[in-house]
Amino acid sequence: MKRTFMVLLLVLSFCSACGSKPIPSGDSAEEDLIVVGMSQVGAESDWRVANSESMKAVFTEENGYRLLFDDARQQQENQITAIRKFIQQQVDYIVLMPISESGWDSVLQEAKEAGIPVILVDRMVDVEDESLYSAHIGSDFLREGTAAVEWIESVYPDGEPVRIVHIQGTLGSTAQLGRTAALEEAVALHENWELLTQLDGDFTQAKTYEVMTEYLEHLPSKEDVDVVYCENDNIAFGALQALEEGGYACGRDGVNVVTFDATRNALLDCLNGNISLAVECNPLLGPLVEETIQAMEAGHTPEKQQYVEERVFTAAQLTTTLIEEREY
Ligand code: AHR
Repeated sequence: MKRTFMVLLLVLSFCSACGSKPIPSGDSAEEDLIVVGMSQVGAESDWRVANSESMKAVFTEENGYRLLFDDARQQQENQITAIRKFIQQQVDYIVLMPISESGWDSVLQEAKEAGIPVILVDRMVDVEDESLYSAHIGSDFLREGTAAVEWIESVYPDGEPVRIVHIQGTLGSTAQLGRTAALEEAVALHENWELLTQLDGDFTQAKTYEVMTEYLEHLPSKEDVDVVYCENDNIAFGALQALEEGGYACGRDGVNVVTFDATRNALLDCLNGNISLAVECNPLLGPLVEETIQAMEAGHTPEKQQYVEERVFTAAQLTTTLIEEREY
């Protein structure tokens, strides 16, 4: 829209680099588009795929945007490279889903110096200078963790032993930090809660299946695990697979599997009793990000911190209709 000619040239080079179709030049409608450079973490989870789809559905040419979407394949250095490219291309906005919280000061400073507003989506960054980003739109991960912990408290009210296997998401990401902090705080408060182990599941089913299978092989007795606290649905799927193969029963009379995201497949597992609690993490953030950009286009200062509302589900709250109607 603003830096049309330069953008068109650079967009052409970006698209040839990423294999997309070249953009036709000299079209005045094209020149009116708002150019958004988006750096996505990757496609590690069902949640992430739904999040990318939500963005792509909103930032379309029909809606007045040219979206430059970059998949960082779980590497922060790829995200930094993409942001530098967006700066070179003089995009109008940068939307960043940061893989982890640290390490962003320099590149966000470069975006600021180039006069390009940065909107953080999903996770946060830990930077000294908050003016390096215009807004953060996503989940309150500590609140999600607290909801999970409160449910565990309600299930074990009598001081009986609660032995917990904790499988973490990508270390250093806001989702991991918030959900872990809630659990660790609760373990410190309850004498009867024991953290058996903390495993790194990296938010993926494959890694979790591997680490959980290995862990269970070395456990002396099947009675030793009460709760498996999984920091996302794909971790829960990997854990369920390992538990099943290890001969563990899940649910009310067995291991209580707690998960975050509450995607459709996790809710099905919740309805059939394999997952005891699914804490919602809403990936459908595209419309909120678009509203924020529109507000900025109109000259408004966006609300800096925008958390989305989220729910928790046990089998009691679920019906097949609710699950079928779920968008992700
Ligand atoms: O940051 C959000 C988390 O990242 C989601 O819980 C997880 O599924 C994703 O990969």
